[in-house]
Amino acid sequence: MKVLLAGGAGYIGSHTCIELVNAGFEPVIVDDFANSSPIAVKRIEEITGRKIRLYTIDVCNEEELEKVFKENEIGSIVHFAGYKAVGESVKLPLKYYRNNLDSTFALLSLCEKYDVNSFIFSSSATVYGMSEDVPYHEDLPTGCLNPYGWTKYMNEQILRDYAKVHPSFSTVLLRYFNPIGAHESGLIGDNPEGIPNNLMPYVCQVASGKLEKLHIFGNDYPTPDGTGVRDYLHVVDLAKGHVKAIDYSIENKGSIEINLGTGIGYSVLDVVNSFEKANGIKIPYVIDGRRPGDNATSYADPSRANKLLGWKAEKTIVDMCKDAWNWQKNNPRGYKE
Ligand code: WQD
Repeated sequence: MKVLLAGGAGYIGSHTCIELVNAGFEPVIVDDFANSSPIAVKRIEEITGRKIRLYTIDVCNEEELEKVFKENEIGSIVHFAGYKAVGESVKLPLKYYRNNLDSTFALLSLCEKYDVNSFIFSSSATVYGMSEDVPYHEDLPTGCLNPYGWTKYMNEQILRDYAKVHPSFSTVLLRYFNPIGAHESGLIGDNPEGIPNNLMPYVCQVASGKLEKLHIFGNDYPTPDGTGVRDYLHVVDLAKGHVKAIDYSIENKGSIEINLGTGIGYSVLDVVNSFEKANGIKIPYVIDGRRPGDNATSYADPSRANKLLGWKAEKTIVDMCKDAWNWQKNNPRGYKE
């Protein structure tokens, strides 16, 4: 079965593409490389030993996107395409709302036209907002803190409403916690532009000497060591969750929200210590003030994913730290050759 991966050259899309090939699916990547690189697709081909069908198209451009549906019998869609920098979304809300919603409109209008009934969406634990009611269960009330988060929230609602009036349609809204790590080959991984916003890419750049020290955003949270607690999961485990979600959507109709997380919370200092132990590299750090919009603790109740998808994260924090560093070490400039 052909699976359209919108934004399939990005961090999570590229890892999912590999797991889809491993599971016998035929991925078709659509990406305009606004925030990714064609080299990632070459690397996927190197890892899988397969030629990957690629369309260099902006997913928001429905007219161009239609070509993909005309030329391929698409059985399922996984929608990863979107801008994802939280801080930038506050400064440029229209850019985020337009891009992150238009892509969904274009994909759904072509689903309607070409009778595609399986749709997996990259949502985020960010839809739980500042709730401190951990672990986060899918039935908790949702609400967001920034335009990036609201685009996830709104896309979920658009997909739920579409599913209500298309009885053959099935959508799985995957709420990711904090994906880190990289493929064990060290050929693909997270590739942020400029100074990283997220913890693990920042730690990796400190380890490589590119950045001098880590700035820990607050050590006065009500957590065991005072630093923020998150549910970090290995990107390869996350990728496998998408394969399971496609299987589920073929068997079940309607819409469902599913958390993808390990169910374990680690603090910033836990991550620093695990990284140092796993890789034998010291990570110098300083304690700074809290970052606006951060909450103390976020981790998943992953029981719905266990029960409905038969999915469970398998890799440990040590695997995550080793693989993240392996990618960074082998690709100090990311995909820039
Ligand atoms: C993790 C912890 C920080 C950087 C964000 C988005 C979310 C999703 C993933 C994706 C927190 C601390 C971080 C640093 C630090 N979006 N930290 N120093 O904030 O949980 O989630 O990324 O596309 O929607 O909100 O992840 O990795 O930024 O932070 O101390 O330099 O590390 O305060 O406690 P977050 P993160």
